[in-house]
Amino acid sequence: MSFKTIAFFNNKGGVGKTSLLYHLAWMFRELGVKVLAVDLDPQSNLSAAFMQDEELEEFWPEGPHPRTILGAVSPLMEHEGDIAPVEAVRIADNLSLVVGDLGLGEFEERLSKGWADCLTDDRPVARDGFRVISAFHRIIAAARDRGGFEVALVDVGPSVGALNRAALVASDHVVIPLAADLFSLQGLRNLGRTLRKWREGWNERRVRRTVPPGLELPLGSMAPLGYVLMSPSMRQNRPVQAYARWGARIPAVYAHSILGSDAVLPSACLAEVKHFKSLMPMAQDARRPVFMLTGADGAIGGHAAAVRDTYALFEALAQRVVSDAGIRSEPIHRA
Ligand SMILES: Nc1ncnc2c1ncn2[C@@H]1O[C@H](COP(=O)(O)OP(=O)(O)OP(=O)(O)O)[C@@H](O)[C@H]1O
Ligand SMILES: [Mg+2]
Repeated sequence: MSFKTIAFFNNKGGVGKTSLLYHLAWMFRELGVKVLAVDLDPQSNLSAAFMQDEELEEFWPEGPHPRTILGAVSPLMEHEGDIAPVEAVRIADNLSLVVGDLGLGEFEERLSKGWADCLTDDRPVARDGFRVISAFHRIIAAARDRGGFEVALVDVGPSVGALNRAALVASDHVVIPLAADLFSLQGLRNLGRTLRKWREGWNERRVRRTVPPGLELPLGSMAPLGYVLMSPSMRQNRPVQAYARWGARIPAVYAHSILGSDAVLPSACLAEVKHFKSLMPMAQDARRPVFMLTGADGAIGGHAAAVRDTYALFEALAQRVVSDAGIRSEPIHRA
């Protein structure tokens, strides 16, 4: 068994990254895999999905936020020391969350400078740079050690800035949620270049002699596990025929841009997530994933069948991720 950190990333916004991660996190705990969800998006949509506004408000008081991701990096931001431990919030058995923060964007400048600083020969400056860039990795590792998690799922916003670079450096794997449209196809090309640049940039840095002794650095492998195709009707302003046309081009663009290969692997598509339609507001009201809705929530008749299909889809996706990422050596099944 081996702990893995997996980022859900696409610089194209609104494709359904956060919803996908939310559902997969619940499915992991369904299957008995101890999962840590980590909200590194300053929009904090993942935290809002897991928690009620009233609960969340307690994490975001006036003044310092010691219980969020911002609190954990605050000493670094203020040049007052290293990361502070942050307690992951228990959402359910086997499922916890590192709560996000709308103020996390303020860390971006420090991350940007830290990335450059890692390359300087000025030892104290370089050491500070390595502490800053490895902060997310070390926060996740500390939460893993305390909570015994098997996997961390990291949600990020749609950008290619220093914040997401640090989030990806902390990630062993990346899953790419995308839609079958021009924007996702174009985004995929940029994403390939970006991931390569970040990987190479980190490889150049992490072997330098100025790395502080004893500091646990991530490998920053960000190895692509595959992509998840999100439903066409989520963008209702585009004709459905176009969906098939763009969709047909994704495997080749994925292979070329992300894997740097001309060999198209059909298995790179990890799942196709359908539009949840009226099940989505039902799930949001119930504060549960679509596949855990019951008759009492209003999921009856055709809805109940859609709930079962969604369960099967996410179960297969979770199993695929567990085996491809090497989280467990044995297949996982429902208890
Ligand atoms: N399968 C789905 N069926 C129906 N609605 C969905 C589905 N997936 C996501 N949505 C809705 O689409 C919108 C965008 O989804 P989401 O926030 O997950 O995207 P995102 O990629 O995380 O966005 P951002 O780039 O802003 O972080 C939300 O309103 C969400 O409820
Ligand atoms: Mg999101």
